[in-house]
Formats: sequence, structure tokens, C-alpha cells
Amino acid sequence: MTEENKRIPSHVSIIMDGNGRWAAQRGRERVFGHAAGVESVRAVVEASVKAGVRYLSLYAFSEENWGRPEAEVTRLMSLMVQSMRNEIDSLDRNGVHFVVLGNRSRLSDEINRMIDECDAKTAHNDRLTLMIMLSYSGKWDILEAAKSLVKEALDDPEKGRAMADGLSAEDFASRLVTSGYPDPDLIIRTSGEKRLSNYFLWQGAYSEFYFTDVLWPDFREKEFFDAVEDYSRRDRRYGKVK
Ligand code: IPE
Ligand code: IPE
Ligand code: MG
Repeated sequence: MTEENKRIPSHVSIIMDGNGRWAAQRGRERVFGHAAGVESVRAVVEASVKAGVRYLSLYAFSEENWGRPEAEVTRLMSLMVQSMRNEIDSLDRNGVHFVVLGNRSRLSDEINRMIDECDAKTAHNDRLTLMIMLSYSGKWDILEAAKSLVKEALDDPEKGRAMADGLSAEDFASRLVTSGYPDPDLIIRTSGEKRLSNYFLWQGAYSEFYFTDVLWPDFREKEFFDAVEDYSRRDRRYGKVK
């Protein structure tokens, strides 16, 4: 990226896809691809810090992914635990605040405990916020927000009537798990698939999309910088005329 062409996205999000196909190409089990994908996570975190990206969110496991074979789900969760254990000190040293967002009621006590510890340990960092979207889906997020509003309205009918007339998009967004964080400027999806797979349905309303055929375990710093550079040439209009 040249110095004069530096429209850096504040929030980059990645749908990390293609681990299974990467492993199949090598005649290996799907989980071999997931393990290789951890290296790519490390690479894009470092690249984000280098590029000056402030928020990086990674779609690691969808609500739908619970429907995969039990052995694969177990392996993905143990990779998550291992990665937190191995990486948290280096993330901390690099100024990264580590958070996990999603339906945590489906995660084991062990994972939930580690998530809280890693978050607390790195909460003072402000160079990059790394959001791991785990057991997440866009519809789940929106439904939970809607349910919390309904409950509030039932508890306090006067507030409920006020909300029925005046609820704003900001009020609604403050109930999503991403509350307090900016919406993604750029959403990258690897492996050639061109769909959202129930990802940031609300937050992605005005995101730029970047699709690449590269499979996730092959997606490293160069591929990340290519995507950011492509973004820097886009013209975002938000429905207006320029
Ligand atoms: C992405 O790779 C990782 C997760 C969804 C957890 P996949 O496991 O979906 O790999 P493909 O799409 O089958 O190649
Ligand atoms: C999307 O990938 C979910 C994650 C990357 C975590 P999938 O591989 O699950 O998506 P589909 O099934 O191809 O839509
Ligand atoms: Mg996939």
C-alpha cells in the first residue's frame, strides 16, 4: 500500500471459510484444515496491527456449525481453548484486546471461564480489538435484542409505549452483542463462496464486501493487504449522491 493511498478500514471482518477443502486437497481430515487456519488468524491479527486497523472480527463458528459431526465440533472447541492458552500473552504484548461474542450459553464452562480471563487480562489494550464471533449468527443476535426489548416493555409499560413510538436504530443496535463497536467497514469472505451464511445481518448494512477464492489456511498478510487496498479504492455513498 502506498503512503498516499491510505484509506484504512477501521473495522475489518472476515468469514474464514475453506478449511475443510484445504485439508481435502491434501488428502487429510477436515480438522487438519482447522488447525492450519489458526496460523492464518495469527497472520491477520498481526497484519491488522501493522495496517492500523482498530477492530478485527472473525467469524469462527456459527450457530449452524453446531450441526456438524460431534468430533469436528469438539476439535474446533479444543482448538479455541488451545489458541487462547497459547496466544493470549502475545496478544497482550501487541496491544490487542481479546473478546468473544456470540451465544455463550451454548459454550462449556471451561471455555466461558477462559474467555472471561482473556478478556479481563487484555481489557487495558487499545491498539486493536479482536472479536472472535463464536456460536454466533445474525438472526440469533437480532432475535435476542428483540426479546430484551419485549421484556423491558413488559416490566415497564410506560417505557414500552415510549419505545413503540420512538425506538431508534441506535437503541436497537445497543442491544446487539456488538454494542459499543463500530459496524464493519469491510467484510472479507474466503474460499470463493459468495454468501453471508447468517453473519452480520444488521451490522453489515453498509459494509463493503471482498470475496476471494483463496482458502482460509492460505490467507495470510499479503492477501489481507490486497483486500484492504481494494477497499481503499471504493467509493462509499450510503445511499446519497456525491
Ligand atoms: C471454515 O471452514 C471453518 C468453520 C466454518 C468452522 P469450513 O470447515 O467451512 O471449510 P469448508 O467450507 O468445508 O471447506
Ligand atoms: C460460515 O461458513 C461460518 C464460518 C466461517 C464460521 P460455513 O462453511 O459454515 O458456511 P456455509 O455452510 O458454506 O454457508
Ligand atoms: Mg465452509
